[in-house]
Amino acid sequence: MSLSPDPSIRPQVVVLDTGGQYCHLIARKVRELGVYSEIRPSETPAAQLSHARGIIISGGPASVYEPGAPQVDPAIFELGIPVLGLCYGHQTIAWHLGGQVERGEKGEYGLAWLETLQQDALFEGAEGRQQIWMSHRDSVTRVPPGFAVLGSTETCAVAAMGDAARRIYGLQFHPEVVHTANGKRILANFLFRICGCQPDWSPREQSARIQEEIRRVAGTRNVFFFVSGGVDSTVAFTLCLRALGPERVRALYVDTGLMRAGETEFVRNVFESLGRGVFAVEDASERFLAALEGVRDPEQKRRIIGEMFVDVQEQILASGHYLEGEWILGQGTIYPDTIESGGTAKADVIKTHHNRVSGIQRLIAENRIVEPLHSLYKDEVRELGRELGLPEELLERHPFPGPGLAIRCLCEDSARPVERLPGGWLAPLHSVGVQGDSRSYRPVLIVDDAPDAPGLHEKAAELINRNAAINRAIALAASHAPIASLQTSPAALCRTRLERLRRADAIVREAVHRTGFDREVWQFPVILVPLGTPERPDSIVLRPVHSVDGMTARAVPLPPALRGELCGRLLAEDGICAVFVDLTHKPPGTIEWE
Ligand code: XMP
Repeated sequence: MSLSPDPSIRPQVVVLDTGGQYCHLIARKVRELGVYSEIRPSETPAAQLSHARGIIISGGPASVYEPGAPQVDPAIFELGIPVLGLCYGHQTIAWHLGGQVERGEKGEYGLAWLETLQQDALFEGAEGRQQIWMSHRDSVTRVPPGFAVLGSTETCAVAAMGDAARRIYGLQFHPEVVHTANGKRILANFLFRICGCQPDWSPREQSARIQEEIRRVAGTRNVFFFVSGGVDSTVAFTLCLRALGPERVRALYVDTGLMRAGETEFVRNVFESLGRGVFAVEDASERFLAALEGVRDPEQKRRIIGEMFVDVQEQILASGHYLEGEWILGQGTIYPDTIESGGTAKADVIKTHHNRVSGIQRLIAENRIVEPLHSLYKDEVRELGRELGLPEELLERHPFPGPGLAIRCLCEDSARPVERLPGGWLAPLHSVGVQGDSRSYRPVLIVDDAPDAPGLHEKAAELINRNAAINRAIALAASHAPIASLQTSPAALCRTRLERLRRADAIVREAVHRTGFDREVWQFPVILVPLGTPERPDSIVLRPVHSVDGMTARAVPLPPALRGELCGRLLAEDGICAVFVDLTHKPPGTIEWE
């Protein structure tokens, strides 16, 4: 990690990562309970863990008895520090300490009922029959010497085990997920009753400590940021501003001309209210628009935008003398990225992808970088932002892709009519999707049903599964013309269509904010598609989704009153023929169209 670890805060609880998707969730839950926690590779030597008050071994996809499975240093069980193993961690404990682990006939995934079998500090206030969440194939079939079985389910005899004298515990289920009814209570018991942790963590109280850290890393040097108007870079910038004063920090914003209506003004207002003269806009909109004029292929759009960003940033770095010794680069990197760039091979790919700017690469290589949020989770960044007095409107923003409206403005090569299919109409309109681990680029199905037909999302999923020619399904909400008369038109990126999309997006954003629907969804892309009639060649697709991290997502139904208002206002716009709602979950769709 580019930023040296901060010596002023040490994790009381270390989560050993055995490759589970729940690892971050465990650390976050521990922190929510007020105890600072960090993640370390599973094989971390015991000697490096001796300062901790508790160790949690995470769940993971491997089997303990397979070669190459993630290991822990067996000496951690001799430290006298309490250990809690979850799922794979539970099996690891059994395996190391003389118990037995076997592969089950079939897996156990989802909700189950736990019955506690004897009193123990771990289950204090959480005794009896209770709902838990399981996801496993292997099971502990015999507990190690000294251990007692603390709980069972119908199919899992050792769902919880413990050796109270050595303070070592294992749970086959996941207390860190919300579906485990007493999960929080069980974790709190481990932290406070068994480990003797003291509350030491509140994101809102980190401001002074982080500012101290920024001063230490910066020394006499100044800090510049490329800011996007997103939460992370704005909070990171604000901390640097408070730490070093307005003379020593700069925020540079590139206006690509591809942003939403009013975006540049919004970002300017936020930063100018933070400090006079700290913010500069590079208006590169003419360059971006000229480079994109006439482009249709989604990958080519992304390539052009990425390369233009690099050019513009390079030019800013050179002309502002930011590459000279008295400047370092500030970045809004948060904890999950810190962990990723610390180890896995996959992270390397992500990194090179994002930091192609040679000037920035040089700064990173020279260790001239400060990342004030490197140990915080996203929700902690928001809380800290609140403490710093940043506007709620900024803190609660939905994510918005860097390449902006360009990727939501779809293009086609040719004019082709829709075709009748069983269950709907095939629109020869290609969009990106994700099936298995690979990307698809396929036409869309317009289902016959109205957007509020019962069971519509399930039906859409089934139609997509059955028909390999499509990767998405949409429903017609309102139109100037019958579906049968719709056709695609040859369309590329151009100012007229970008402006049409920008207006539509602004209409949706205003209504969604006014009605409070923006708080019920994670993101709400608005897409312009070249499907319509010769008089009105484009249509709008509405894509409200629920998600946790953008990796998977569920399409969310629009409340009928809101849908009605949006249809009325969008169909009154020039060039817009119809309004659709997207019914596709991710996978098989992506959140963005493109
Ligand atoms: P997809 O479309 O892949 O999107 O399901 C997942 C999440 O990532 C966002 N996204 C981006 N964010 N730069 C970004 O900063 C990008 O190039 C980019 N592409 C997609 C998308 O908005 C969604 O939240």
